[in-house]
Parts: sequence; C-alpha cells; structure tokens
Amino acid sequence: MRDMTKHSYSAAGFAVLGAIAFAACSLKPAQPNADASTQGGSSVSTGGQGVGGQGGSSAIGTGSPTGGSPAAGNATGGSPTAGNTSTTSPTGGNSAVGGSAAGNPAGGISASGGTSTGATPAGGNPAGGARTGGISTGATPAGGNPAGGVLAGGTFAGGIPAGGSRTGGAGAGGSPAGGTPTGGIPTGGIVSTGNVPACAAPPPPPASYTIATHMTPVDAQATSLVSAMATTDKINILSGDHTSTPYTTAGVAFRSLGVASLNIPNYPMRDGPRGMRNILPGDVSTCFAVAEARAASFDLDLEYQVGNLQGREMRAAKNELALAPVINTLRHPRWARAQETYGEDPVLLGEMGAAYVRGMQQPGGCAACPKHYVLNDTDNNRMQANPSADMQTLHENYSRPFEITVKKGDPACIMVAYNLVNGTHCTENKAVLGDIVRTQWGWGGFLISDWSAAQAGHGAASMNAGLDLEMPVPSAFTTLSSDLTAGTLSSQTLTDAATRVMNARTKFKDLDAAYMASTASFSLAGAQEAVDLAKKTELEGAVLLKNDGILPLGSLATTVGSGSPNAKIIAIVGPDNNLPVAPTATQNSTANFVSGLGDRGSSQVVAPHAVSYAQGLQARGGLTIKQSSDTSAASGADVVIIPVSMAHEDEGESYGGGADRQNMNLTSIHPKHWTTKPTAFIQSVAAINPNVIVLLNVGSAIIVEDWMASAKAIIQTFYPGQEGGTALAALLFGDTNFSGKLPFTVGQNESDYPQFQNSGSAAATIDYYHGYRLFEKNAKPVRYWFGYGMSYTTYAYSNLQVCSGATIAAAGTLNVQVTVTNTGKVAGDEVVELYIGYPNSKAPKRPVKELKAFKRVTLAAGASQNVQLSIPASDTAYWDMTNNKWTVESVAHTVLVGPSADPTKLLSATFTIQ
Ligand code: BGC
Repeated sequence: MRDMTKHSYSAAGFAVLGAIAFAACSLKPAQPNADASTQGGSSVSTGGQGVGGQGGSSAIGTGSPTGGSPAAGNATGGSPTAGNTSTTSPTGGNSAVGGSAAGNPAGGISASGGTSTGATPAGGNPAGGARTGGISTGATPAGGNPAGGVLAGGTFAGGIPAGGSRTGGAGAGGSPAGGTPTGGIPTGGIVSTGNVPACAAPPPPPASYTIATHMTPVDAQATSLVSAMATTDKINILSGDHTSTPYTTAGVAFRSLGVASLNIPNYPMRDGPRGMRNILPGDVSTCFAVAEARAASFDLDLEYQVGNLQGREMRAAKNELALAPVINTLRHPRWARAQETYGEDPVLLGEMGAAYVRGMQQPGGCAACPKHYVLNDTDNNRMQANPSADMQTLHENYSRPFEITVKKGDPACIMVAYNLVNGTHCTENKAVLGDIVRTQWGWGGFLISDWSAAQAGHGAASMNAGLDLEMPVPSAFTTLSSDLTAGTLSSQTLTDAATRVMNARTKFKDLDAAYMASTASFSLAGAQEAVDLAKKTELEGAVLLKNDGILPLGSLATTVGSGSPNAKIIAIVGPDNNLPVAPTATQNSTANFVSGLGDRGSSQVVAPHAVSYAQGLQARGGLTIKQSSDTSAASGADVVIIPVSMAHEDEGESYGGGADRQNMNLTSIHPKHWTTKPTAFIQSVAAINPNVIVLLNVGSAIIVEDWMASAKAIIQTFYPGQEGGTALAALLFGDTNFSGKLPFTVGQNESDYPQFQNSGSAAATIDYYHGYRLFEKNAKPVRYWFGYGMSYTTYAYSNLQVCSGATIAAAGTLNVQVTVTNTGKVAGDEVVELYIGYPNSKAPKRPVKELKAFKRVTLAAGASQNVQLSIPASDTAYWDMTNNKWTVESVAHTVLVGPSADPTKLLSATFTIQ
C-alpha cells in the first residue's frame, strides 16, 4: 500500500515544494515610399516612380477587367493584334511571346519581349502573370488590369495594376493614368529598372527540415513490452517517481517510473530551452541566448542546431526527454516567461518550435516536449487562470504553434498546461487534448502534465481526455486502479497511454543499454562548437531598434559613412554594468541575484562561463573601458553604454520570487534592483554625455516613448547567453552586421495591448486579435513593428511576382518571387517576410494580414537576390466554427512581401484561390 499522504498536495502547494526542489537543483531600405493605406482605401495609386515616367507602383484594386478577352493557349511568336479575342485564358503559359497580347493571360507571361502598338493589348487582363520586356505604346494597355502580375519595361497607360507591379516603364498621365483603382489599396510599390527576372522554382528545403524520428507507426518493441506489463506496471510508467524518498531529492522530481522486471529503467527528463537545466550537482550546459532572441533571428537552421546541441548535452547528462521548447503565443509582453518562447506570431512560433524539435530528435539527441499546451500566457495565476477563447481564436492563434510543430517536427511529447481553458483544466479538457491533438492532428506522441497540473483524484477524467503521463508524482492518477474497477476507465485506454510512452522511449533507443552507455561522450559545454553556436544565437538575435548615427563604432563607420569612427573610450554605466555573469548553482537559487542571462525558473542553466559586455569589449584591445554603477564613468567617454536588465523578480517563472512584469515601462517599477529607474537614469546620463547606447537586456517588449530621445541607439539584446559580451562587441563594431528582427510588436502605449488578466480564476475572455494583428486592426500607433530591425546597410525590395499564377487550387501552392537588393555599403543578412491579407474574406474574423513564411538571405554590398517564398494554399485557411474545420476561402487574397509587418514597407500582389 503506497503512502500517498505526502503526495496529496494542491497545485499551489507544489509551487512551494517545487521552489525548494528547483532551488536545490536547482532599411532604411531604399524603398518607394508608398502611402500607408488601408483596405478599400484610396482611389489614387501613389507609389514609387517608374524610371522614365510616373508609373505607379502596385495597386491592389477591385477594378474590373474590361476590354479584350484572352488569347487562347500559347501564342508563341505570334502576333495577336488588336481586338484578337478569345474566351479562353492561357493559364500558365506564355502568351504572345514576341508578339503582342490583347487577351487575358492568367498566370503566364503576356507580351514578353513583344511590341504592342496601337490599341493592343487594350483592356487586357494579365492576371497573375508577368508582362515583361514588351513595349506598350500609345493607348496600351489601356484599361487593363494586370492583377497579380508585373508590368515591366514598357509604357503603360490607363491600366489598373491590381496587386501587381509596374516596373521600369513610363506610366503616362500618372499612376496609373486613365485607370481607376477604385477601392484598391495602393500598397508599397516596386521600382526597378530593366526587366523583371523570370520566376525560378523554389529551392528544395535544406537538410535541417528532415524529421529523423516519427512517432507513428508505433514501434513493435513498445507494443510487445506493454503487452508484457501488468496493470500496475502500466500505471507506474505513467507516473512520476513516487517510490524514491524524499521525492523532492534532486533528480527524483524529474523522472517517471520504469519496470524493473522488464529491464525498463526510470525515465529521466530535464528542462530547456535556454540550455539544459542544472538539477544535479555538477550539471553544466551551454547557455544560449534565450528563445525570444533566437526567434528574432528568424533562422530555422540556427534553431535546428541549437536543438541538436541541447539534445546531445541532454543525452550526455543521461536525460531522455527534454522539456522544451516553449511555444506558447506571447499574447502580452508582460508574461513572466516571454523570454522562453518565440514571440507573438503562431507561424514563427510553430516553425521555430519544429526546427528545435527536429534538431533535438536527430540521432544522438533525445525526445522533445513542446510546452505548455495551451493558452498558458500569464504566470502569477497560472494554476487557476481560466482563459475563455472561441475555437477560431484557439485554433488560429494558440494551438496553431503546436499543430505546426507536430506536423513539421513530430515531437515525442507535449506538455499540458496548468491553466484551465473554457472552464476546464487543460489536463482533463478533451476538447483541447483528445479532440484536437489526437483526432484532428493524428499525432502519435504522448501528453505529459506540467508539474502538478493534473487535479487530485481526477485520474479517469484526465486519462480519458488524453493525458498519458502525470508528473512529478501521481495525484490525479492515484485513482487509475479504482477507475478501472469502476469502469470509468477502460483497460484499452490505459494500454494506449502506456504504449505511447514506451513508443517514445524505444524510438529514441532509451532501452538500448550499449547505446546509452556511449552517450556520456556527447558532453559539449565549453567546447568550441558550443561556444560558437551560443555566440551565433546572440549575433543573429540582437535587434537594433534605433541608431541615430552613433553606430557602428570604429573603422567600419568610415565605410558606412556614419557612426563613431574614433570611439576609443567606452563607458558602461548603471547597476547592470557588469552583466551578464554566469551564476553558480547556488546563485541560481539566490533571491535578487541578477545574472543578465534570464530567469531562475525551470529554464535556468549553469553555464561554463559568461562573457560580460565589458569583458567582450575589453577583449577587442585598443579600447579603454570605464565602468560605474552610477553615472560617473559617462563623463569624457566617446560612447556610454547603459545595459538595462530585468531580474527573476521582474519577469521570471512564478516561484522563488518570479512573477509577471507589472508594466511595460522602465519608469516606475522595473527593474526592481534599480534604485533610480532607467528612464531617469538614462536621461541624467544623456545630460552628461549624449552618446548613449541603451541595451534592453530583457525578455520582451519595453515601451520606449519616455526615454528614447535620450538614447542615440537602442539595442534589444534580450538575455544574450554565455557569449553575450563577445557578440555585442562584434555587433557594435560591425564585425557582424545586425540582422535580428523583433518577434513581437512594440507599441507606444501599453493600453493598446490586449487585456492581461494575471490574477484570480475568473474567466478571462481572450480576444481573437493580439500583437500586430491588434495594432493593425485598431490602427494604434506602433513604435517598432513585428519583424522590424535595423542594420548597417539598407535593402530594397522589387519585382514581386506571383509565380504560381493568379489562380491556384485550394490544394495548390502559392509561389512568389521578390528581388532583394543590398543597397548599402556592407554585407548583411535580411529576413524576407511574407504575409497574407484577406480583403475579401467572409469569415467572421480575420486579421488584416498575418505572417505565413519568411526567409533569411545573405547579401554582399550591392548584391541582389531573387528570393522565392512558397506556402500551400491551405495555409490561408481560417477555423470555421460552424463546420468545425479549417476552411480555405475561394476568393482573391493579397500576398504582401517585405522587411517587416509595417504596412508601408510591403509590396503586394493578389492571387485567387479557386
Ligand atoms: C514549468 C515547466 C517545467 C516544469 C518542470 C513547471 O513549473 O511550468 O515548464 O517543465 O515545471 O520543471
């Protein structure tokens, strides 16, 4: 008979016990300046200047195609003349190559290289195609409506380039002259000289997109092992280790039980995602920049490598399951654990999560467990929080990151959150567990509870809803045996749960003794590979928010033409002038200890070392580094750096003093360890020395309005990881160009963000809109858009083309191509972002636009690259609450491509889904 009394604690009680246990273990792009537009807005297309005339740039319109109708098929070399009409559209072909077209070539290239004179192609409607290289003179194409296509190299009068672009031509009479983009949205613009490059096929996905371990079908060894188990064995392997005492002993709270008689050892697990959490004495692991910084890299390959290295370190420390990544949607920047997740956008979250999982689950790594499913985005009340969300909101914005991670990463496990959803605890909420995760997604992994999330005595309810494994000790699952007797739980349900857990273990070779014995050699902390990768996470993750000509420092400033070429004396001032530092295991549990590396919650790590900003700069040589915790070192310095770091007590997982942030500014409360708060401090430093650079060493968005004028540069460093100082020095001097982009929106007023109900258990209504979706819908002022980040160069976007044709099937793929040019003096990496807009949606709710794809490209100074982006049409679907399914709308959509979510910076085109 087990003595369960010591395990029957409330969730809140465990928070205290847990704290003990855990503590013990503790552009300015040279782009056309199109007017910001709103949907259905202006009837005047304002845009960039076409070379040789006032050609308008792109205008998404609703103008009707008038005039001629299509020339059927491919009229290669032919000469369709004015009035050539046909009722068939040549889709995907080249119409009138070498000739002229008066038709309606959809998806092809119309009038390529040909000459259209007189009235031809009058009234043509090259939808989705490209009209390139031709010369259309006189009245042509008058009244045409090249939707989604490109008019290039010609002279265009009177056309309505709806969603397309007009490049290199001379638009007579304005833009577009004679045409009426009524109701259209003149968005962005494309200006280029010369011909539009032909569409290239999207490149094949890189190797890091390969899933090495699939959870289905079930491994035969797992089935066979479970068939040999007694009922109590099955219940045991679905429970945290409650047989070792005290269960709070380091390590015990992080393993579930095995079956000795079948040679199945306990199942050890460990937290990420900053690195492997230190639990046992001597645990040291590589400390990366936090996940929020890695999200800012928009670099899936980098995140794959991070997952892979963490996986090998987990293995080296004899762990078999990594409790990471965090892929909760950052609904509000004040969430204590914002630093652990990948920002506000479901697609960025899902893609990053999948990349981490794919890396982690490669041979040599271990099983991954994305968390915390679902709607876990406040911390102070995380065990009672009761968000109420309709199914469209839940599917599109909160379960979507998990769905993408499941489909593109196939993790072994998903952790179920503490909170309730729509009145029922997640751990027993069939509507979000079984119905979505298993039935909708068909995923074969197992569901684990967050630590003490399952409700005492609710065994059958939890397991019937879909929960497989309860941690760290059985509290709900204490009833499983009696549930079987009572018939409220079937033996098949128990067997299925046991099989899912064993399936994960056998697939990752956890029961292969020889393999397990070999894994100690995987240890990497301190190895050059780990140091380089940790440094890269910050080099790519730091976001340059503002630069009033103070950066770069040193000789690169001469090349760039602005910056501080003679910076030699660098002051680092304020209470955080010595950060970051690597905490020891003891310091990891010390209240008010500020490391600058992130919170002291479950994601804490003990790094082999940490390079502070001062050390990183000092190591460059030839500089004088002055430091003071007050303003004194500022006087006489060439530049003054003010690192502003949050501590666990400001934004940290809610135990051991951690909590949600109380507000988003630096003026009144945070950081708590600053006696004079940063706003006043920054202003007083600026009065002494105006060359101020502020480092936001924090997990998410800070309102900068009241102090930004006192800083010449602002850098969101996030918690930068063990190599943070080295990386910052390289960025300040431009050895590596800035390339990070914000994974969240920085508004001007905290009141413009969604409600943040982080106390009590009363139902909190979760609105459909958050982040840039909310700011754009409400037209609220944004300081820095999602996806925004500066560098020492500039990029121009041109020639947006819908390569897949103006019309694609619901089962088809949207392919677009855009030319990105580095128009500055130094090389850089640019993140190209693709959004879809829904101007014709009939769905009850839809954002103005939302991110669907992104790609990071490297461009030498002056270089151009044609970048292909591609999404399945099904990615445009919304969750239809009437029919309970994803639904693709057969209407015209907008595709917007550019450097950030800022609507004034995006090129646009239209395409229709049939
Ligand atoms: C956290 C989880 C973590 C678990 C085990 C919980 O308090 O919410 O993220 O994996 O503890 O440390």
